[in-house]
Amino acid sequence: MKVETVDTALNPFAKDTLLGLSAQPKFLYSKYMYDDMGSRLFQQIMQMPEYYLTDCEYEILDQQTKEIQHTFSGNGQEFDLIELGAGDGLKTKVLMTHFLEQHAKFKYIPIDISEKATRELVTSLENQFPELAVEERVGDYFQMIRELNKVDFNRKIILFLGSNIGNYDDQQCHDFFQDLADVMNKNDMLFIGFDLKKDPAVIMQAYNDPHGYTRRFNLNHLLRINRELDGNFDLENFIHHETYNPVDGVAKSHLLSTCEHTVTLNALQRQFHFKQYEPIVMEMSRKYDLETIHRLATLNGFRVVKNFFDKRRYFVDSVWQLNS
Ligand code: AVJ
Repeated sequence: MKVETVDTALNPFAKDTLLGLSAQPKFLYSKYMYDDMGSRLFQQIMQMPEYYLTDCEYEILDQQTKEIQHTFSGNGQEFDLIELGAGDGLKTKVLMTHFLEQHAKFKYIPIDISEKATRELVTSLENQFPELAVEERVGDYFQMIRELNKVDFNRKIILFLGSNIGNYDDQQCHDFFQDLADVMNKNDMLFIGFDLKKDPAVIMQAYNDPHGYTRRFNLNHLLRINRELDGNFDLENFIHHETYNPVDGVAKSHLLSTCEHTVTLNALQRQFHFKQYEPIVMEMSRKYDLETIHRLATLNGFRVVKNFFDKRRYFVDSVWQLNS
């Protein structure tokens, strides 16, 4: 059985790519968009004015720090700031700048699966905040939190910023909150960013940007497949198409094959046939309303303690605690 020997020998990226491109409709897992070039393109996306999410959350973290600090440590109690998928930590840096000015007692614990990203973040933190206690972890989010809760009894504040949750489908979202509920203590808090439903024109500008960064970000996923799975995707054969559905709040990125053609991935020993205008579903970025956020919290055993909005109410950082 040739197929099975190929399948079992595959790494996760290869396995997931095979799964996605064999599905109907075809899809790719957006978590694989962040190779070195993809991370660079995402930085450029975050810097464009059309990508309002970053500015909104930055505003919240920059202008409501007093209230945030009070929520985290009312009477000045010590806490651990744990960031999931910290990346370049730009938004967290502004928050920590204020915390340090107020002499808040806290440790910063960034968790990321990328060793390289974590190293770079720690180096830049050491330069910028020599007085800050940093304890980086590389590995699985939940395993790391569980270990931390064994050795350290400070309140844990778990940061999950940027509306990263929006990439998860319903099942992944449920699993994520269940896993968190499992490893958090009663006193701990989740600080989580949600992009809110808004004028679809604003959302479309952010995900179908006039600079073409989002288009390149998506096409880069095909380049990664070519490189790592010895493929022959021709980028000229694909166009980027964004949709937004105001009912479920899902913004979806697609690449459409403009012609009928076949792509070969040698590492998978497979060919994939594309009909004309057949889509690959590349990513979804969900937008929420407050009812949905409350329902998500309640369904997973949490309650909403506080919501921090930006001035335009485009975005919310929601603070959750476990229900007793
Ligand atoms: C990093 C998942 C929050 O979905 O808005 C930005 C990624 N994709 N533009 C998002 C992304 C296209 C981003 N997240």
